[in-house]
Amino acid sequence: MRGGVSERFKETVLKTVISERVSRVRISPPPQKNMDIIEEIRNFVENECRKPESKYGYEPFTFHFIPMVAYADKLTDKLGGDKEIILISAWLHDIGSIIYGREDHHITGALIAEEKLKSLDYPDEKIELVKKCIRNHRGSCPSEMNSIEEQIIAEADVMSNFDNLPGIFKAALVYEGLGQGEAKESVRKKLERKWEQLRFDDSKAMIRPKYEAVILLLK
Ligand SMILES: [Fe+2]
Repeated sequence: MRGGVSERFKETVLKTVISERVSRVRISPPPQKNMDIIEEIRNFVENECRKPESKYGYEPFTFHFIPMVAYADKLTDKLGGDKEIILISAWLHDIGSIIYGREDHHITGALIAEEKLKSLDYPDEKIELVKKCIRNHRGSCPSEMNSIEEQIIAEADVMSNFDNLPGIFKAALVYEGLGQGEAKESVRKKLERKWEQLRFDDSKAMIRPKYEAVILLLK
């Protein structure tokens, strides 16, 4: 079950740490009233990816964030939802992973988003919607996704795997240390699981040619 005692405790501890770090690392002055909040958030994420201490370097910005945001944008056009909430959540959904690493990045990410958006005077009720999208975006951490915004963020995250074959191979070959045969098998199985996770016909229609191509190549 999500939201148990240990998770709440973890969240309290992380909130203190993150609050200190985000205020310390803020690199841009508060925006002008009319500055585009989505652009501001995109720049914040890109700057965090560029920092030498970024956990996975700059590559995730190019190979994960950009396609993921593009899918979130396209899905919103097809399925509806609040585009501002969706695009802000899409840019921020993995910020916890960039700053602190993958473990609990749905929790750290939501807290970083809260700090950052508060510093930009973003309305509290909208911050809560963004936090829900980030907290519930991980397929590996089952959660109840109630809003279309939450579902689109989780869906776009899954879809983006099909645009990042080199990154999935890198994880298998470099981070997991698999041999080429094992890596090929592992990548194919991972993408088969990702395909099964897709919940909307519109996303399946968008991804199907890439899925079929990759399975053909990796069988
Ligand atoms: Fe992601």
